[in-house]
Amino acid sequence: MPHADASNFSPTLSKSEAYEQLISSLTALLIDQRNWVANTANTASLLWHLYHSFPSTSPSSAVNWAGFYVLDPTDPAGQLILGPFMGKVACQTIRIGRGVCGAAAQGTGRTVLVKDVEAFPGHIACDGDSRSEIVVPIRTGGKVVGVIDIDCAELEGFDEEDQKSLEAIADLLGKSSDW
Ligand code: SME
Repeated sequence: MPHADASNFSPTLSKSEAYEQLISSLTALLIDQRNWVANTANTASLLWHLYHSFPSTSPSSAVNWAGFYVLDPTDPAGQLILGPFMGKVACQTIRIGRGVCGAAAQGTGRTVLVKDVEAFPGHIACDGDSRSEIVVPIRTGGKVVGVIDIDCAELEGFDEEDQKSLEAIADLLGKSSDW
C-alpha cells in the first residue's frame, strides 16, 4: 500500500542517494499497479519532491515542471498528449519531431539534455520561466510510448547523472506499466 512518506526526501541526501531512494520507492509502487496513469502520476510526485529537497545551491532545486507526455491515442504516429505532471498548466499536445519532447520521442527515441533552452532551436516555451530541460523517452518492446519531461528555471539544471537516473526510471516505467 503506497504511503505519502515515499515523497519525503531528506535534505541531507546527495543527488545519487536521492535518486536511489526514488528508484527504490518506485520499484515498490510498481509491484501492485500496471496502470500507466497511476504510475506516471506517482512518479511525477516523487520527482517533484526529490528536486525540491535539494539545497538552493543546486540548480535542479529550481525545477518548475516535472511530468509526462504520452503518445496521443487519437494520433499515435503524429503527436504527444499531456500526461500527469507537477507544476503549472502546460501545452496539451506536441507534434512528434517538434520541440524538445517531440525530438526525444521521434523514431526509436533519444534523451535530449538541454542546458540552455535558448540554444535549442524549436524549443516550445510552455512556461517562459524555463531555462533548461531534460526529456527522456519511455519505451516498451523497443517502441517509444511517451517521455519524461523535466524543466528547470535555472540554466544547466541537469547533468549526465540526472540523465542516467531518469533513463533508469523510464526503463522501469516502460516495462512495469501497461501503456
Ligand atoms: N519545452 C517542451 C514543451 C513541454 S513543457 O516544457 C512542459 C518542448 O520543447 O517540447
